[in-house]
Amino acid sequence: MAGIGIENATKLFGKTLALKGISLDIRDGEFMVLLGPSGCGKTTLLRCVAGLERLDGGRVRIGERDVTDLAPRHRNIAMVFQSYAVFPHMTVASNIGFGLRMRRVPKAQIDTRVREGADLLGLVPFLERYPAQLSGGQRQRVAVARALVMDAPVLLMDEPLSNLDALLRLQARADLKRLHKEVKRTTIYVTHDQVEAMSMGDRIAVMREGAIEQIGAPMDIYDNPASQFVGGFIGSPPMNFLRGALRDGAFAGEGFSVPMSRRRDDVQGREMVLGVRAEHITIGAEGVLARVMVVEPLGSHALVTALVGKTAVKVQAPIDVDVRADQTINLRFDEATVRWMDAGTGAAVQH
Ligand SMILES: Nc1ncnc2c1ncn2[C@@H]1O[C@H](COP(=O)(O)OP(=O)(O)O)[C@@H](O)[C@H]1O
Ligand SMILES: [Mg+2]
Repeated sequence: MAGIGIENATKLFGKTLALKGISLDIRDGEFMVLLGPSGCGKTTLLRCVAGLERLDGGRVRIGERDVTDLAPRHRNIAMVFQSYAVFPHMTVASNIGFGLRMRRVPKAQIDTRVREGADLLGLVPFLERYPAQLSGGQRQRVAVARALVMDAPVLLMDEPLSNLDALLRLQARADLKRLHKEVKRTTIYVTHDQVEAMSMGDRIAVMREGAIEQIGAPMDIYDNPASQFVGGFIGSPPMNFLRGALRDGAFAGEGFSVPMSRRRDDVQGREMVLGVRAEHITIGAEGVLARVMVVEPLGSHALVTALVGKTAVKVQAPIDVDVRADQTINLRFDEATVRWMDAGTGAAVQH
């Protein structure tokens, strides 16, 4: 087992600064998710840890070893790529054992480990099949099994579920999580899917434009986003934001005024962005006026989108909520959950 230490990692592609001095410590056995929009540098960071890209600055440590200048094969890692390439002309068993054969592991030992890997991923019944005879989800499991049997203490995965359809993704997500509990490899898992990140990560590192915006446990990031960017990226629907200023018991902006009973001297009178989640707004007899745009019944609840001033706000309401488009309603924000962000930088104000 081995923790991973990334220290001030920088990477340039021509004039593009893909990594802007990233530092990240991953604990032994931890499942760390790198989350961020396309192009923010997730794959680049992962490839630098693997040694597939050279850093332009900074260091990478795996366990006690500084591996910055080591070739990938000496770093003792296993990797699952986005386009999990399984060899079409090899059986599942041969595919899983491929890396072991390359390392000239004795045949009897390969057979044992392939069987163990197949067992972990529920592939034993398919060992003699070819990839064409498998579903997408099963093929993806073959790729994971092939990485796992290498017995490396570090497992790197780059959007391994992105080629699966929605239902299979859900299943595979749960499989990978269970697997991690069983084998406890130190894992870096890259995704742009915030639901995947929330459900799988011990911790999430949210990346933006080559830098880390926030590191924390999923619920911590969800409840206390470090910035408007993070609050807007995590959660479905994303956090609601309203721009205005807090004065004399109300947060007021263009065309709206939200009554506020809590004193917040630190944000008083300043141009701020208020952040509030859909489930922390209730429709009732009092509160800020809003005009309903659309009501979406989603089975377990309804999502009401209403205009507060000029800003569309999403409210999680009971499924039987009795409101219609164009109706004027009152919204009350749960003040304990409201977050304040600087209107200029988007950075959260400590509370
Ligand atoms: N081999 C490369 N050559 C040039 N630019 C690259 C290369 N790989 C990545 N980039 C650039 O680096 C940035 C980060 O890319 P990447 O790490 O692939 O992002 P992500 O995985 O988060 O989508 C992007 O601007 C991308 O265009
Ligand atoms: Mg990528």
